[in-house]
Amino acid sequence: MELRKRLAQLSHEDKYPFHMPGHKGRFSSLIGNFDTTEIPGLDNLHCPQDVLSRAQDTVAGIYKAAKTYFLVNGSSVGIMAAIAALTKPGDCVLVVKNCHKSVLAGLVHSGAMPVWIDQSLCPNLRHWLPPSTEAVKELIAKYSIKAAIFTNPDYYGLAPDITSLAQVCQKAGIAVIVDEAHGAHLHWGKTLGLPQSAIDAGCDIIVQSPHKTLPALTQAAWMHITDLALEEQMQETLNLFHTTSPSYLLLSSLEYAGDWASSYGSVMLRRLKILADVLNLRCKQLNLDFPQTLSNRDWTKFLLPNRRGLVGLLRSQGIFPELIQGDKVLFMLTMADALVPQGIAALYRLLPLIEALPEIPGEEIILPPLPKQEITPREAWQRPGEKVSLAKARGRIARQVLAPYPPGTMVVAPGQRLESEHVDYLQKLHAKKVIPQWLEVI
Ligand SMILES: Cc1ncc(COP(=O)(O)O)c(C=O)c1O
Repeated sequence: MELRKRLAQLSHEDKYPFHMPGHKGRFSSLIGNFDTTEIPGLDNLHCPQDVLSRAQDTVAGIYKAAKTYFLVNGSSVGIMAAIAALTKPGDCVLVVKNCHKSVLAGLVHSGAMPVWIDQSLCPNLRHWLPPSTEAVKELIAKYSIKAAIFTNPDYYGLAPDITSLAQVCQKAGIAVIVDEAHGAHLHWGKTLGLPQSAIDAGCDIIVQSPHKTLPALTQAAWMHITDLALEEQMQETLNLFHTTSPSYLLLSSLEYAGDWASSYGSVMLRRLKILADVLNLRCKQLNLDFPQTLSNRDWTKFLLPNRRGLVGLLRSQGIFPELIQGDKVLFMLTMADALVPQGIAALYRLLPLIEALPEIPGEEIILPPLPKQEITPREAWQRPGEKVSLAKARGRIARQVLAPYPPGTMVVAPGQRLESEHVDYLQKLHAKKVIPQWLEVI
C-alpha cells in the first residue's frame, strides 16, 4: 500500500503546510465517522429538501446570496455547469487568457466560442494581469457576447476591478460568471485590503472552493447565484455533472466551513493580516520582498523570491510551500495559520537564512500572444486528432487543453492554431519539464 505509506510519511514531514487544503490539518473534527452517501434521512444533493437544503440556505445567508449549491467535485464542476447552463453552441463567451482548465471543459460541453480578452503581462510574475474594463468594453462593442467568465482572484492573488467589469457586462445584458475558487475568504476581508468579493459586486454566478481557503475538505466547493431566476436551470445542470454518490464527508465539511468562518472568519483574518504584515516587513528589511507593483492583490498569497537551496532549507524545517516556480515561491496563508501560527513563526525565523542563499536570476520567458481561435473548443475536441511532437505542431490546430498543474492555468485551448512563436514557447515550457513533449492536434 505504497500510497498510504507515502501519505503517512508526508503527514509526518509536512509540519507547516503553506498549501491547499485551507484547513492545513488543524481541524480534526472535519473527519468524523461521516463517510456515507445518500441514504434515507440524509437528503439528496440532486434535489435537496431537508438537511442539505437547510445547510445550503445557511451558507447563502452568510454570503447574502440568493441561493447556494454545495459541490463535491471542486469549483471545476461548478464552472463547467455554469457555462453549460448559460450558453449554447455558437454563443460567444468572454474569457480571460489565464483561465482555469475547467473553463475549457465547460466550453467543450456547451459548444460556445471563447472570445479571449486582451490582457497585458505582469513582468515580475511573468503572468497575465487581470483584464481591464476598457478591454472588455471594446470586445462588447465588437461581438455579440452571451456570458463572461472572470477569475477573482487568480492563483497568485491578482484580482480585477470586479465591480466595474460586472457593471459593464450586465449593462450590455451579459451574464457574469466568476471563478472565485481562490476567494471564499474574501467575504471576511472587506476592511483588510483584500480584493472585493464577486457576490458583493453583484455578479450572477460565483463559484468558490472553500477547500482552498477555509476549513473544508479537498474538493468541497460551492456555487452562489444572486438571482433566483437561475435557480432551477442551475440545479438541473449541476445534476447532469454531479456524481450520484456525493460524499457526506465533503458535504458536512462545507456546512462546517460556513459555520466556522461566520463565527471566527473576521477575527482570524484580522489576526492573519497582522502576521502577514510582520512577515512582509521582515522581508523588506532583508531585501527579500518579491518585487511587485500590484495594487489589487490578495495578500494571503505570500510570495518570496526563490533562492538556490531554498526548498531543502524549507523542508528541513517541515515547511511545504504551495508552488515553487522559477524565481518565485508561493505560500498560501489561511485562517488556519492564524489559529495555529507556528508555521508562520517558523517561516519568519528562516527569513535571514533564506536571504543568505544565492539568488536565482529571473527567467526570460516571454509569453507569446494568444493563438488564434479558429474553431470552437467543442468542434476541435470532436474531430479525430493525432499526437505529434511539439516541433510538428507548428501550423496545426490544437485538439487538447494544455494547462500544467499547478495551477491548471490554460496555455493552449482546443481549437487554437499554433504558430512558430507558440511552439517556441511550448518547447521552453517542455525544457523546464512543465509540459510533455507532444501535443494532440487536428
Ligand atoms: C483559478 C482556479 N479556478 C478554478 C480551480 C478549480 O478548483 P477546484 O480544484 O476546486 O476544482 C482552480 C484550482 O486550482 C484554480 O486555481
